[in-house]
Amino acid sequence: EVLRLGDRYGRVATDLRVSLTDKCNLRCTYCMPAEGLDWMPDEQQLTDDELVRLIRIGVERLGIEEIRFTGGEPLVRRGLVDIVRQVREVSADVDLSMTTNALGLARAAQALADAGLNRVNVSLDTVRADTFAAITRRARLDDVVAGLAAAEAAGLGPVKVNAVLMRGVNDDQAPELLRWCLDRGYELRFIEQMPLDAQHGWQRDDMVTADEIFAHLATEFELSPAVEPRGSAPAERFLVDGGPATVGVIASVTRPFCGDCDRVRLTADGQVRNCLFARDESDLRAALRGGVSDAEIAERWVTAVAGKLAGHGIDDPGFLQPDRPMSAIGG
Ligand code: GTP
Ligand code: 5AD
Ligand code: SF4
Repeated sequence: EVLRLGDRYGRVATDLRVSLTDKCNLRCTYCMPAEGLDWMPDEQQLTDDELVRLIRIGVERLGIEEIRFTGGEPLVRRGLVDIVRQVREVSADVDLSMTTNALGLARAAQALADAGLNRVNVSLDTVRADTFAAITRRARLDDVVAGLAAAEAAGLGPVKVNAVLMRGVNDDQAPELLRWCLDRGYELRFIEQMPLDAQHGWQRDDMVTADEIFAHLATEFELSPAVEPRGSAPAERFLVDGGPATVGVIASVTRPFCGDCDRVRLTADGQVRNCLFARDESDLRAALRGGVSDAEIAERWVTAVAGKLAGHGIDDPGFLQPDRPMSAIGG
């Protein structure tokens, strides 16, 4: 019997985003402080077997069709290739992807593809070495560039690039980044920054909006709306100079897409979150470790999603940023 992960607003979650670790080997200023965070204790993190069991329940009993591994940085999770292989054994059809900063991807890409990973999205906010080091606090641009190329070569495409713009830091580099991605066949998407930083320093006025992103790009490119419907994808896509290449804008804040959301999240410590901005979580790790059956875990998961709120509420008076930062929820 297959249940559905439905909610009160008629949405059904079929896309599972799994955070494999809260750790990261970069320190992007808009994400976490230079010293890092208090990482999750090892015993709280799901083991590979626990993780695969939950994913199996999601796929076999709850209608999950797409799985994306996120972090922190998923490549720092030991045993990643093996996890991918085991998930692929659960289902030959599930769309299996990963969102990564690409450090170490040059070495891992082929093994990940061989194990059954379909695609990667890579986070890259600039192609200038000095700006990269300033944003990420690590001088590793070359590794990312190599990782992107290796991913494409290993068949982990079409490769998408995700970029967050910050005013006065890299916003004026938007056209340059787009040109660089177009030259290499990567699909670039610009993301509005959301209030999910560990430092709780996000301010709406600091955010580079979708309108500003268009204005920057319009200095060098002509954008026109792509024809195909957007569906539940967060990115609105635009043809660049008549196409066929496209650029995307993920305007989570100024043009929310919560009404079409088909996502549910699992944190590295086994909590179901029905939204990035959820105020509460459901503890499936305790259920797993308490000897609860697959059928009962599936029911608890259904209940967790049923309580999903209509939207992220960033514009509501009294909005509170979630306790967990993006790096511990999964992007
Ligand atoms: P594709 O399947 O390749 O389209 O991936 P994706 O765009 O869904 O995933 P990715 O991890 O690349 O996400 C890109 C960005 O979209 C993230 O970094 C977030 O900023 C944003 N995003 C992802 N999921 C959500 C969500 O549920 N809500 C909101 N508001 N933003 C999201
Ligand atoms: N808002 C939007 N995107 C963010 N990312 C990290 N923090 C935020 C935020 N507060 C992006 C990263 C990466 C992806 C995982 O999420 O730049 O592309
Ligand atoms: Fe790491 Fe991603 Fe946060 Fe950058 S945004 S520090 S790559 S988790």
